[in-house]
Amino acid sequence: MNVATTLSEFRTRRARLEEPVGFVPTMGFLHEGHLSLARLARSSCKSVVASIFVNPTQFAPTEDLSSYPRDLDSDLELLEKEGVDLVLAPSNNDEFYPEGYGTWVDVGGITQRLEGTSRPTHFRGVATIVAKLFNIVGPQRAFFGQKDAQQALVIRRLIRDLNYDIELILGPTIREPDGLAMSSRNAYLSIEQRAAAPVLRRCLMLVESLYTDGERDGEMLRHAMLDVLQSEPLVQPDYVSVADLNTLEELKIIEVVALVSLAVRIGSTRLIDNTVLPPGERLF
Ligand code: PAF
Repeated sequence: MNVATTLSEFRTRRARLEEPVGFVPTMGFLHEGHLSLARLARSSCKSVVASIFVNPTQFAPTEDLSSYPRDLDSDLELLEKEGVDLVLAPSNNDEFYPEGYGTWVDVGGITQRLEGTSRPTHFRGVATIVAKLFNIVGPQRAFFGQKDAQQALVIRRLIRDLNYDIELILGPTIREPDGLAMSSRNAYLSIEQRAAAPVLRRCLMLVESLYTDGERDGEMLRHAMLDVLQSEPLVQPDYVSVADLNTLEELKIIEVVALVSLAVRIGSTRLIDNTVLPPGERLF
């Protein structure tokens, strides 16, 4: 496995890769969710590229950029085991964001809802870095996880709107045995907070079973999730949502495929999770 820390080194090595190239973008501190995407890429592409870059522009000044967990040596070891061919791991931010940087990718519409309400500049940062990475890596396929469902929908629009010739492949949410979705941010949780965190999955399972029993009232399902969240004193709900999968507008009555999502704070850690209705339906 080759590791490039500068863009020119990366470009030289990328030019030697056989296509199709599958690309797994990450911010590092890798877990089974990332590795499952690398495996998916390995099984369907001639070459696999991963990136490890904690992108500063998707963090608000009040967020956890400086404390975001990092472990480059362990990440590289894990990627090597998955048979990744080339890793882009820039050693500093300057090549992506030189002094006076001012070019942004704003996907609009769906970026203002859900995560965008609490994190208004988040998706501008994500779309900008992902567009840059697509330009640099030139993949034929890109792999994203359903855990960040809204991000995946934003990337789908980005690919369409900017005419990237890239197939977007969605990997399933990978969960701990107690149902907590894997996330690098789980590392922040204390023992008590970690014990409370599976409440997110319990909310989603309740909604799935209410839906299966015939419930179609969006407001009722949102209330049901809030009730479950309120049973955990350590958990502060940020939002609960039952939304149209394409517009992310809240649904009064579920007549189309719906994205059920929620965000909470446990202490200072923000966690998200989601499911799609009808249960078993895919995001795309
Ligand atoms: O999902 C992530 O880890 C990040 O948002 C991404 C896609 C690597 C962009 O920084």
